[in-house]
Amino acid sequence: DAPHVGEGGASQSVTPSNAPNLGSTGAKPDYSGEKIVVAMVGLPARGKSYLSNKLMRYLRWLEYDVKVFNVGQLRRALAKAKLKESGQKEDHTATFFDPHNPAAFKLRTQMAEECLEQLIGWLKRGGNVGIHDATNSSRKRRAAIAQRIAKEPDLKLIFLESLCTDPQVIAANIAVKVSSGDPDYAGMSPEAAKEDFLKRIKHYEETYESVDAHGDEKDLSYCKITDVGRSVVVNEIHGYLESRIAFYLMNLHLTPRNIFFSRHGESQYNVEGKIGGDSDLSERGWAYAKALPQLVKDAVGDAPLTVWHSTLKRTGQTASFLPYPKLAWKSLDELDAGVCDAMTYEEIERFYPEDYASRDEDKFNYRYRGGESYRDVVVRLEPIIMELERQENILIIGHQAILRALYAYFHALGQDDLPYIKIPLHTLLELTPAAFGTRERRFKAPIEAVNTHRDKPAPREKISQPPSPALDPMEEAATSKPPSQLDPDAQRPE
Ligand code: F6P
Repeated sequence: DAPHVGEGGASQSVTPSNAPNLGSTGAKPDYSGEKIVVAMVGLPARGKSYLSNKLMRYLRWLEYDVKVFNVGQLRRALAKAKLKESGQKEDHTATFFDPHNPAAFKLRTQMAEECLEQLIGWLKRGGNVGIHDATNSSRKRRAAIAQRIAKEPDLKLIFLESLCTDPQVIAANIAVKVSSGDPDYAGMSPEAAKEDFLKRIKHYEETYESVDAHGDEKDLSYCKITDVGRSVVVNEIHGYLESRIAFYLMNLHLTPRNIFFSRHGESQYNVEGKIGGDSDLSERGWAYAKALPQLVKDAVGDAPLTVWHSTLKRTGQTASFLPYPKLAWKSLDELDAGVCDAMTYEEIERFYPEDYASRDEDKFNYRYRGGESYRDVVVRLEPIIMELERQENILIIGHQAILRALYAYFHALGQDDLPYIKIPLHTLLELTPAAFGTRERRFKAPIEAVNTHRDKPAPREKISQPPSPALDPMEEAATSKPPSQLDPDAQRPE
């Protein structure tokens, strides 16, 4: 990494002429040594796929390469060929899951093994966490998995068991399965599908053995989760990433709740087209702050809510009329633009043309001289995500880059999209975590504000001239036009 200007030194003054040549492009952290198999355990409709997907989304957001290997999908893909080979008819109904159906049992075992081999191959080719999304519901099956993984010295294995004692949650999971167009039930009525799925669950129950229920699986690494959030048993979990996975799972819950995002009201700097800083709200920004309590009330009703904001004035001011408990987080402060703080985009392009181009080329990775990149922001927001998972209704009053990074976590958006997510001023976003993914509603306040969003520019030709010595904006100011004249659009209302 390029040195951070001013790092470690108290208030060193950084001018463009003593800044390092170019803001750096931070490399992806080296996770090549991390290779983990997460083998799910649980009856059908116990939330295994929910946990797998949630874990995948979290780890991908942290830049690990994660993939879910679903045995059901493989079963359907391979069923035709394999069943033909063995002279059986293709069948995905409950009969296929009957433990007393030896031919089907053999096939199911083969498919789970095949799925594991695909997962191992993928890890060896560079993946970090492969999730084996299957029932793995007997000691025998788990022992076979453990034996297979033990042959691979670089791979670690964790079993993740999902138990569910709440009939309502099970019923809801069953309803999702039979109403979500599951290919196993294509062409069946929802009633017939439900009946068949319940039979399938019964078959699994006949042979289900919870992890270490017999006291002979003490050597396995496992996390046993009961009713997501009610209890978590952690056994033989060692290592950084394994502990991180366990800690994340410990913080999850299924209580229905909403997460609200709002940027601060329009600030003085927004009006002037400047980035960063710690300016006050503009008049329209104050109008938004005053309108926000009603906007929130319309969305939240009388439910309890906690407000989090950054330590910058504009978010505190925006929160000031809200009648809820509030907490200021330093980690919610806007992306630090380093030496470009308080400049307009036009000034940055003028004083740091290479940086400007470099940021346009790879906005996620570009780190401002003496400041941060989006990647840095994601790292510092990780504790916020963890805490958000633990909480119920939360409203975050944040900043453009910060809310983009948090939004990307909930919508599983990748690094190319993340820095261009549209989060306009004077708009309340409501995110509702659902079984698979997140639902969203937006409430726009009828108060004008500038548009601070810059679309991803079309790729442009590389600057071929040698970089001109960086200009000192203070010297330049004498000859340059005021920012407002550089681009009249900077003040144009949305
Ligand atoms: O313009 C408002 C702002 O919050 C700036 O303070 C910040 O630097 C910028 O948005 C982040 O957006 P982008 O990454 O698109 O420049």
